[in-house]
Amino acid sequence: MSAKEIKNLEDIFEAKIARDEKIEPKDWMPEKYRKTHIRQISQHAHSEIVGMLPEGNWITRAPSLRRKVALLAKVQDEAGHGLYLYSACETLGISREELYEQLHSGKAKYSSIFNYPTLTWADIGAIGWLVDGAAIINQVPLCNTSFGPYARAMVRVCKEESFHQRQGYEIMMTLCNGTQEQKDMAQDALNRWWWPSLMMFGPTDDESTHTEQSMKWKLKRKTNDELRQQFIDQTVPQADILGLKVPDEDLKYNNETGHYDFGEIDWSEFWQVVKGHGKCNKERIKARKEAWHNGEWVREAAMAYADKQDKRTTKQTG
Ligand code: 3HC
Repeated sequence: MSAKEIKNLEDIFEAKIARDEKIEPKDWMPEKYRKTHIRQISQHAHSEIVGMLPEGNWITRAPSLRRKVALLAKVQDEAGHGLYLYSACETLGISREELYEQLHSGKAKYSSIFNYPTLTWADIGAIGWLVDGAAIINQVPLCNTSFGPYARAMVRVCKEESFHQRQGYEIMMTLCNGTQEQKDMAQDALNRWWWPSLMMFGPTDDESTHTEQSMKWKLKRKTNDELRQQFIDQTVPQADILGLKVPDEDLKYNNETGHYDFGEIDWSEFWQVVKGHGKCNKERIKARKEAWHNGEWVREAAMAYADKQDKRTTKQTG
C-alpha cells in the first residue's frame, strides 16, 4: 500500500475518532491502536478471572447462605466479564490460547489489587465496596471508549459491578453495626485495602506510559489521576457513614477545590507488586495454570462436540 493510501486511511480513522464514532473490528486501524487495545483489554480480562481467586477463597466460609449465594453470583459474574473481554480482544486478531499463554508466562499483567490476601470475611466486604467501587469508576467511562466491542462489553459489566459494590458495602455496614470485634475486623480490612485500591487506577498521570495517547484515541476518557480523585471523593463519605477511619493522616477535604487532599501513595509497593513480588502473585498464577490444565478435557469435549455439529450441518445442507 502506498504512503498516500495509508495517509488517507489514517485521516478516515482520525475523523471517525473525532466524530465519536465506534471503531469496529473490520475497520482499518493503526497497528499501534490495535496493539494497545489488545494490551489493555487482555489485561482487563486477566484481572477479571484472577480477581475470582481471592473471593473464591471465602465461598465455603461465608457466614450465611444469603452471603454465600451473593458471593457465588459475584464470582460467577467476574468469570463472565472475563469471557466478554477475551471475546472483544479476539476480534483484534489474537487467539484465546495466546492470551492465556501471555498471562501464564507473566508477559501480560493483571490488576495489582488481586495480589493481596483475603484474611477475614471483612475483606470480602472491603473488596466489594472498594475494589469493585474503584472498578466501576474506572469502567463507566470505558462504556464510551472508541473501540466498539470493548464499549459494548463494558455496558453489561458495569451493571453487574454496581451489584458487587452494593453487596460489599452491605457486608461492611453489617459488621460496623455488629459487635466491637466485628467493627474492628471491618476497620482492619479498610486499613489493608485502602491504599492498594488507590493503586488500581495506575501510576500518576505524569508517570503513566499510555494515558496521553489513550486519551487521544478516546480509549481512555479520563486520566488515572482524575478517576482516582473521583473514587476518593465518593468513598470517604461512605467510610464516614460506616464510622470507619480511612488510614491516611493527610486526608482532608479541601473547600477551595471541592476535593479531598490525600497522602502520598507508596509507588515502590505498587511497582513491586506489578513486577511479581506481591504477597500472592505466585499463588495466583499457579492457580490459573492449574485451572487451564485441569480444564483441558472440557475444551477438548466442547471442540469435539462443535466439530460433530459442524459435520452434521454440512451433511444436512449437502
Ligand atoms: N496493576 C497492574 N499493572 C498496572 C496497573 C495496576 N493497577 N496500573 C497500571 N499498570 C501497568 C499498565 O498495564 C502499564 O503496563 P504495560 O505497558 O505493560 O501494560 C503500566 O503499568 C503503565 O500504566 P499506564 O497507566 O500507562 O497504563 P494504562 O494506560 O493501561 O492504565 C489502567 C492502566 C488504568 C489499569 C488501564 O489499563 C485500564 O483502565 N484498564 C481497564 C480496567 C482494568 O483493567 N481494571 C483492572 C481491574 S478489573 C476489576 O477490578 C474487576 C472487578 O470486577 C473487581
